[in-house]
Amino acid sequence: MSFPKGFLWGGAIAANQVEGAWNEGGKGWSVSDVATFKPKTDVKDYKAHNAISSDAIRKAMADADDTYYPKRRGIDFYHHYKEDLALFAEMGFKVLRLSIAWTRIYPTGEELQPNQEGIDFYRNVFEEMKRLNIEPLVTLSHYEPPLNLTLKYNGWTDRRVVDMFVRFCKTCFENYGEYVKYWLTFNEVDSVIRHPFTTAGIVPDLCDERGEKGCCFQALHHQFVAAAKATKLLHEMVPGAQMGCMLTKLTTYPNTCKPEDVLATLNKNLENYFYSDVMIWGEYPRIGMTKLENEGIKIDMEDGDLEIIKEGTVDFLSFSYYQSCTESVDPNAERTPGNTILGVKNPYLPSNDWGWQIDPVGLRISLVELYDRYRKPLFIVENGVGSNEDIVQPDGSIHDPYRIDYFKRHFIEMKKAVEDGVELMGYTSWAPIDLISASTNQMSKRYGFIYVDQDNYGNGTLKRLRKDSFYWYQEVIRTNGENLE
Ligand code: BG6
Repeated sequence: MSFPKGFLWGGAIAANQVEGAWNEGGKGWSVSDVATFKPKTDVKDYKAHNAISSDAIRKAMADADDTYYPKRRGIDFYHHYKEDLALFAEMGFKVLRLSIAWTRIYPTGEELQPNQEGIDFYRNVFEEMKRLNIEPLVTLSHYEPPLNLTLKYNGWTDRRVVDMFVRFCKTCFENYGEYVKYWLTFNEVDSVIRHPFTTAGIVPDLCDERGEKGCCFQALHHQFVAAAKATKLLHEMVPGAQMGCMLTKLTTYPNTCKPEDVLATLNKNLENYFYSDVMIWGEYPRIGMTKLENEGIKIDMEDGDLEIIKEGTVDFLSFSYYQSCTESVDPNAERTPGNTILGVKNPYLPSNDWGWQIDPVGLRISLVELYDRYRKPLFIVENGVGSNEDIVQPDGSIHDPYRIDYFKRHFIEMKKAVEDGVELMGYTSWAPIDLISASTNQMSKRYGFIYVDQDNYGNGTLKRLRKDSFYWYQEVIRTNGENLE
């Protein structure tokens, strides 16, 4: 058995990490415009690493420079989109996952009428994709909520944000429904708890007596309600369109077979499933909710919320997968970073320069686990490896066997999962083109098949160059995953 006919091969990007043009086209401030460059690669404390305050936000807003705010400039996809889409088409992309910046459409989130320039920008992008036969997969919120909502409402902790987001979704369905069949509401919906500001616009010093964690779960409830409403609306407005849930798949293994380690691992995995359980089954999981109650966290719900969540379940499950984690109750166990998490170091796995452990078999395990649990079609919408080893040769070529090796080993496992019986719709690599890192705001953490000439401080020509992996992925797509050599 091999990949199904019509398998959607492609790549994934996010507006805030590629577009730049942060103050053009009527765009408003988003949380990503105040995210600062962090040179440190080995992040052992994500809370400290992501620390943010209202003061820091105000300081950033008074600074019009983009040197230390790399997401303001991205890779200038806003002006290079035709060139970039042409390169994706050259690789043979069937699908491109991209996000719509809420602040291009509703600059503060509160307007009642959308910003026409923003509407036009994405229409032009979708028109071009149609011309190139690339199917869009659109994320409606990928780490870019309007900053105004943070300063005025402490982001998603406030119920009023639900209606604002649904208005934004409705505008997108109205304007882009003719181009877009596949949609996602919140990127890595589970990440609110790990980086509340980036995902939900929450700042600790604006949190009330519920505390930061209480505010996060309140915000999450609002996102679940908003996602369910948006899903229902999509089904009504765009017949045949599909909505997915997007989860960070943090597959966790026990460090030993000591029952306490196994229990700690079970809890970690259940924590990870909490979010997809709600969006797929339309119900809060009892064990997860009991745990919150035991911690004194109470979620305020309005009458009818649970019915809304029940009625607005998703059509498919998408997820990101970068690494697996290991768990132990031993306080002295050595820990290593992963995608905004810290896990126990697994002696059987190598890591990249950021400490993320490379585990292709973990992708197969994740696919089988998720499909068996939910019986919904799966879509891998992020998978890839950040590297700072790319060197541009005098002739402009870039030899990146490490990247090819990473993808190749993951595709082999992906294929085995399909053979196991997993229903897999498609695969979008993170990221097909070098972009600004979400967690560190580095340009030097390169993921792409396409190299972008820009350093961490914004120096460079922004010229796009094809790496060896570009040609390799082109061949993988051409043969529908048959030729991985
Ligand atoms: C995912 C995010 O969690 O990880 C992306 O959805 C992000 O936005 C990706 O870029 C890789 O993380 P990083 O921090 O290396 O950019």
